[in-house]
Parts: sequence; structure tokens; C-alpha cells
Amino acid sequence: MEFSRKIKIAPSILSADFANFGAECRAIEDQGADWVHVDVMDGHFVPNLTFGPAMCAAIRPHIKGVMDVHLMIAPVDPYIEAYAAAGADVISAHLESGPHIHRTLQAIRNTGKKAGLAINPGTGIDAVAHLIDMVDLICVMTVNPGFGGQKFIHSQVDKVRSLRAVIGDRPIHIEIDGGVTVETAPLVAAAGADVLVAGSAVFKGGSVGNPAPYGANIAAIRKAAEAAA
Ligand code: DX5
Ligand code: ZN
Repeated sequence: MEFSRKIKIAPSILSADFANFGAECRAIEDQGADWVHVDVMDGHFVPNLTFGPAMCAAIRPHIKGVMDVHLMIAPVDPYIEAYAAAGADVISAHLESGPHIHRTLQAIRNTGKKAGLAINPGTGIDAVAHLIDMVDLICVMTVNPGFGGQKFIHSQVDKVRSLRAVIGDRPIHIEIDGGVTVETAPLVAAAGADVLVAGSAVFKGGSVGNPAPYGANIAAIRKAAEAAA
């Protein structure tokens, strides 16, 4: 994975047809997705349940590009090896997932994968400063994690701007997750984000049998973001 700050669109398959994940992954990539975002939820750290490592391994052959695994689970450490073995390229753990996030990030990096740090809306960026040299990506949640289709929390845009300043020239992606649309994408792109996760805004109006709306949605979000970046 070569580092660039070019805007990247990462559709979240939480909004895809669960009965057709392989075909959905191929469809969004064919329609212009840069990364595929996989939301792993344990019904404990967040009030929803989604995908285990076996599901990630099953969709891996259907993803040509980057598989971006967002772990909303606690604890994280017992599962890192399994998601790495399943073919994740980026593995993100939440700062709030436990007392030993430094060890967790070390463990992710030890698998040879890219390490991501996700922070909830209620978490400031102060703690990030002590972890900045251990991460390849910082995911700023712009909704409270657990569900797709939620409203974007505008107060997080300032956090993105401050984070961009803290990161400086380091090759660290700023990922935005939750409520990204054609309207909100320019706000975070202007603040310095480069990876835009979008679930409901990408999958709306399309299907595996009619993927063209996926392409139109991805292109519209990218255009709006690039115009502001
Ligand atoms: C929420 C997830 C997001 C979600 C985004 O906890 O981490 O990735 O699927 O979906 P939208 O874009 O619909 O808010
Ligand atoms: Zn996510």
C-alpha cells in the first residue's frame, strides 16, 4: 500500500446486501471504490453484531484492492492474528477498546499489516499524540459507532483539522467514518481527511444487478471532496 493523501472512497459493506457480499465487493470496486471498509462489531463494544474473521477470509478473493477492517470489539488483541490471516490490509482498533491500546497497535504492526487507531466522537485527540508513531491511519468517527445511516456529527470537523496539524508530514491517513455524503465530504476533505468511508450514501439506489448508481454515488462524493481538498 503506497501512501498518498489523494482522496480515497471506502464504501462500508455494512450497507451492502448481506446475502451477496462477494458480488457486492466486486461491484463497488468495478464502480470506482478505492478501499473496501469492513465493520466488525461484537455486540459488546457497540450494540450491534456483524462479521467474524471467517467472513473476511471469504470476501478477500473478491477484493482486488485494500481491505480496511474496522474493529469495534473489546478486547481486540485475541483477534488480531485471525483478521490478519483473513487478509486484512489495514486493521483499526478503537482507542476506547481497552487500557492497553499501545500494546494492541504493536500487535497489529507485528503482523505486518497497517495499524489504524479509531476514536469515538467523545474522545479528544490528546491521547493520539503518544501513539502517533505507531499508526498508519487514524479514523475519526463522525457518528457514534454501531450502525449505518446515522447523521454526521458536525462538531468533529474541528477535531479533523487539529489532527491534520498534529500529523504534519507523517505518512498517516486520516479516515472519516459515519454520515459521509456529498454534503459532508467537502467539510472533512477541507479539514485534511483523505479516506472517506461511506455506507448508505454509496449503496443507495443500486444493487448487484444494477451497480451503476454505486458508481454515480462514489463519483459524486469524490468530486465534492476533491473540490474542497
Ligand atoms: C458505523 C460504521 C460505519 C458505517 C458507515 O459504526 O463504523 O462504517 O457503516 O455508514 P454510513 O456511511 O451509512 O454512516
Ligand atoms: Zn466503520
